[in-house]
Amino acid sequence: MNGESAIGIVGGTGPEGRGLAARFAAAGEHVVIGSRDADRGREAAAKVVAVVGGDGASRIEGATNAEAAGRGGLVVLAVPYEGQTAMLGELAPSLAGKIVVNVIAPLAFVDGRARPAPPSAGSAAEEAAALVPSARWVSGFHTLPARDLLRVGEPMATDALICGDDEDARNTVMELAAKIPGLRPVNAGRLESARCLEAATALLININRIYRAHGSIRIAGIHAGQAGT
Ligand SMILES: NC(=O)c1ccc[n+]([C@@H]2O[C@H](COP(=O)([O-])OP(=O)(O)OC[C@H]3O[C@@H](n4cnc5c(N)ncnc54)[C@H](OP(=O)(O)O)[C@@H]3O)[C@@H](O)[C@H]2O)c1
Repeated sequence: MNGESAIGIVGGTGPEGRGLAARFAAAGEHVVIGSRDADRGREAAAKVVAVVGGDGASRIEGATNAEAAGRGGLVVLAVPYEGQTAMLGELAPSLAGKIVVNVIAPLAFVDGRARPAPPSAGSAAEEAAALVPSARWVSGFHTLPARDLLRVGEPMATDALICGDDEDARNTVMELAAKIPGLRPVNAGRLESARCLEAATALLININRIYRAHGSIRIAGIHAGQAGT
C-alpha cells in the first residue's frame, strides 16, 4: 500500500485472514485485524505478531471489523460466505471508493467432500460488488492455503490468481501479492473469473484430501513479468 495507509482485514481472526495479515506485515505493510469482537481481534493480532517476529508488532493491530474497514486504505473481506451480506450491510459506508479484496469461497460439504456453492449472482465476489457498488472490488488469494501463509519464513512457491473489473485496483492487489516472497501474481481477468477462483478452492480441498497434502495452483506457460492484455 502507499504511504501510511493500512490494510484492514475483516474476519481477520480466521486462519486465512491471519495468514494474509502475517504475509502483508512481513512485507512491511501495516495491518489491522478485524473481528466482531475487539478482544478477539487483539488476540489474533498477538498470534500474528508471534508468527511475524522482528519489528512486526509495530505494524500489526487488532480491532473490530468496523475499525479495520474504516482504517484500511485497502480492505480484505475474509469472513465465511454466510456472513457476507450482513457484514457488507454494516460496513458499506466505510468501503466506498476503497479497493476491497474478496477471498470468500462459498462451499458446501457432502461426506467430507467440498463442492462450490455459488450464490445466484455467480460468485461471492460478484454478489458483494452488487451489494456495495461504490467499492473497487477485486477477487483473489483463494488458492493460497492458510497453513502456508502462516509459515512466513518459507517462500510461498505458488501463484496468486487475481481478478477484477477495475484494472487499477487489480494491479494494486497484484503489486501487493508480489511483495510476498515466492508468490507470483497472475491476472485472472474480469471479476466474473471469481466464479472459477472460488470453485477452485473446492477442487484444491478435495485434491489435498486425496493426497493428504497442502497443494496450491500454479499456471504453466506464462512467464514472470510477461504483460497481460
Ligand atoms: N482457510 C483457507 O485456507 C481458505 C482458502 C481459500 C478461501 N478461504 C475463504 O476465506 C474466508 C476466511 O476463511 P477462514 O478459514 O479464515 O474462515 P473462518 O475461520 O471460518 O472465519 C473467519 C472469521 O470470520 C468471523 N466469522 C465467522 N462467522 C461469521 C459470520 N457469520 N459473520 C461474520 N463474521 C464471521 C470469525 O471471526 P470473529 O468471530 O472474530 O468475528 C472468524 O474467525 C472464507 O470465506 C473462506 O471461504 C479460506
